[in-house]
Amino acid sequence: MANVAVIGAQWGDEGKGKVVDWLASRADVVVRFQGGHNAGHTLVVGSQTYKLSLLPSGLVRGKLGVIGNGVVIDPEALLAEIARVSAQGLKVTPETLRIADNAPLILPLHSALDRAREGARGENKIGTTGRGIGPAYEDKIARRAIRVADLAEPETLADKLDELLLHHNTLLRGLGAETFEKQALLDHLLALAPRILPFAEPVWERLDELRRVGKRILFEGAQAVMLDIDHGTYPFVTSSNTVAATAASGTGVGPGTVGFVLGIAKAYTTRVGSGPFPTELHDATGKLLGERGHEFGTVTGRPRRCGWFDAALVRQAVKVGGVQGLALTKLDVLDGLPELRIGVGYQIGGEVLRRLPASPRAQAVAVPVYETMEGWSSSTRGARSWADLPAQAVKYVRRIEELVEAPVTLLSTSPERDDTILVRDPFEG
Ligand code: IMP
Repeated sequence: MANVAVIGAQWGDEGKGKVVDWLASRADVVVRFQGGHNAGHTLVVGSQTYKLSLLPSGLVRGKLGVIGNGVVIDPEALLAEIARVSAQGLKVTPETLRIADNAPLILPLHSALDRAREGARGENKIGTTGRGIGPAYEDKIARRAIRVADLAEPETLADKLDELLLHHNTLLRGLGAETFEKQALLDHLLALAPRILPFAEPVWERLDELRRVGKRILFEGAQAVMLDIDHGTYPFVTSSNTVAATAASGTGVGPGTVGFVLGIAKAYTTRVGSGPFPTELHDATGKLLGERGHEFGTVTGRPRRCGWFDAALVRQAVKVGGVQGLALTKLDVLDGLPELRIGVGYQIGGEVLRRLPASPRAQAVAVPVYETMEGWSSSTRGARSWADLPAQAVKYVRRIEELVEAPVTLLSTSPERDDTILVRDPFEG
């Protein structure tokens, strides 16, 4: 029995929530390995709608949730989310949630710096979620981060705050933003400590035990490959590695434990925030996709930019992300469109490329090369087998498989959990 890692294969918001929830019901433990509370998953279970940002999705299915060391944890946001879902009747206790004692913390000064810097960038802003993700990862790499385990050591906290404040207050002052005071931050952390520490442990050890007794582990990715700090459309990316390899380093297991890599892709493309988006539509079709697909950011509420499926982009994500099978979502949003387009490459200057080059200038001027296909008039919504799909819709999916060089192993045809065509159970490896 394999473990499974789920990652986004575009720019995020591919409908991971439903797929992860469906897989979580087959798993024993669900593990977050990167990102932070910039992610947003909406899960509908019975009459309850849960909005999760930091908590692993499996918690709503009564599975053990683990937050790995690759995640940046805002302790206040974590406690607020626990309080929110507890009010909905969900039990989150140290028995059901474990967090890595070596995970770095997001402090109020990180979100302040995130917002101040975005403000200063003006036109060139990245369009971050403003939650301090980038600055927190910067501190981790710069070796000055406060980590979960430090909450147990007031003296370590005081020393680390000196170093952090020297750095951050200098920057904040330079950006004309309010600075932070050491004692207030120390008091804030000491007050949070007894509420966070009961959840903390070396999660690598627990995962090793679970792995050895054959428990099924689901690694839940956030954001997506094209937002990966190395492989995405840099600098318009998030600050973590979102590829499946991070499931190992971001939790403390070996790469062999990660198992089957399922990439999630929408049957079209969306993006929130700034950055290149070659197949973006600025016309009535783009508007229609946004309306039908309810394309608004879960975390920020921002309208998502919409466009045609970009097979060159997803192929690249498949290769660098290690994707072995695709879950294709929201096919029904395309129902009734007379003609569909699929991006198969980019015209850049005099050249046609089948991949996005690293240069942001080249990415910005990339003109998509399209293949055109006939649409279908009948509905695909709620289909549960290939036989339920119009022939043209099957053709569209098959063409996507060819172009991205990965099989569609799961097709989601509505937000309902059971409206899914399963070609292959990812846990079967
Ligand atoms: P940050 O992660 O807040 O630093 O934002 C960097 C970029 O990643 C921005 O374009 C965000 O809109 C995008 N981003 C971050 N988290 C998500 C997500 O969960 N879904 C989609 N886009 C995201």
